[in-house]
Amino acid sequence: MKIGVPKETAEGERRVALVPDVVKSLAAKEKVSVQVGAGAGEAAGHPDSQYSEAGAEVVEDEVTWGADVVLRVAAPSAAEIGRLNSSQSLIGHLSPWTAAETNKALAAAGVTSFAMEAIPRTTRAQAMDALSSQAAAAGYAASLIAARESGRFYGMITTAAGTVPPAKVLVLGAGVAGLQAVATAKRLGAIVTGFDIRRAAWEQIASLGGRPLELDFIPDAEGEGGYARPLTDEENAQVRDALGENAAKQDVIVTTAAIPGRPAPLLITADAVRAMAPGSVIVDLAAETGGNCELTEAGQTVVENGVKVIGPRNLASEMPRPASQLYAKNLENLLGLLIGEEGELKLDFEDDIVAAACITHGGEIRSERAAQ
Ligand SMILES: NC(=O)c1ccc[n+]([C@@H]2O[C@H](COP(=O)([O-])OP(=O)(O)OC[C@H]3O[C@@H](n4cnc5c(N)ncnc54)[C@H](O)[C@@H]3O)[C@@H](O)[C@H]2O)c1
Repeated sequence: MKIGVPKETAEGERRVALVPDVVKSLAAKEKVSVQVGAGAGEAAGHPDSQYSEAGAEVVEDEVTWGADVVLRVAAPSAAEIGRLNSSQSLIGHLSPWTAAETNKALAAAGVTSFAMEAIPRTTRAQAMDALSSQAAAAGYAASLIAARESGRFYGMITTAAGTVPPAKVLVLGAGVAGLQAVATAKRLGAIVTGFDIRRAAWEQIASLGGRPLELDFIPDAEGEGGYARPLTDEENAQVRDALGENAAKQDVIVTTAAIPGRPAPLLITADAVRAMAPGSVIVDLAAETGGNCELTEAGQTVVENGVKVIGPRNLASEMPRPASQLYAKNLENLLGLLIGEEGELKLDFEDDIVAAACITHGGEIRSERAAQ
């Protein structure tokens, strides 16, 4: 089996699908070889020489698109899908629940594709769960951006000229990204409050040294598969009122709230932003799905009444090296289910992970959810 790793082409994408350590482990397998596009790992801190030393062949980028299995981070463009044929497989983020055109194009080309977003969130699949590994990188990056943009000392600093109190940080949504944002802000010394509509998250916030904001007038909103259920309009309004009040006391807010397959819930209204002190900062991780803050614009910084509302895109790419390291390991673990003893692609659709992650095969969209 030839595995190809092309250079990423999406704007601002600095991650790479395989890092040299993982190349080394894959290339050590009999009947498996790895081709890496020239310069593919540069933005993640891995020059071509590291890939050669790890056992990969560094080739013109075009060549990698001819491999049996092509590994990518970002979803492919139509032109990139056009380079693939029915003997090939593609594994990467494909946005399978929203990018209908990508699903159709992959099926039409007869490509066997696997979406990292479609890996089940089960215990067995944890080591392949790129949503979690990349959310951890995004939460960390969000905390650092918020700290830098706030221009504040996060921890208390005492000098002969006086004492500066610690920053007050509120994190909304305490899933994988939110908990990492809590942990990072806490390590920097801030006073951190966290909020989630799933009660289980309150204990997790506390375990990281944060103070859970216990809005217990909302019943526990844990739904299917550990995810949150959408709140009713009335519950949403109550939450927004309570958060608006709390927001006015914070120096920094990091928002990460999401409901799978739906637009991000609105948590911070424009009025709540105006009630914050000038110089405060909001970093909205949900910017790309509509934003948790009413004023968020994806990819922009909006300043309202002296409050910066930052809507970053693709935050995991801000931490290209560790995010790539974890992503590459997720891929290696998934490949473990897909490579047969003879170095062939082994498609066992009885395996719940393979069945769930495979979006297109044999000219069809296999995944019912993606087809919808
Ligand atoms: N393999 C596994 O077992 C596995 C892997 C990853 C995540 N999980 C679990 O799945 C859950 C969600 O993880 P995620 O990070 O992917 O979630 P996510 O990105 O879908 O959502 C982020 C957070 O936003 C919260 N949220 C939704 N609406 C909200 C609102 N109105 N106000 C405040 N918060 C709101 C959610 O409860 C969630 O914690 C967690 O319980 C996590 O532990 C399990």
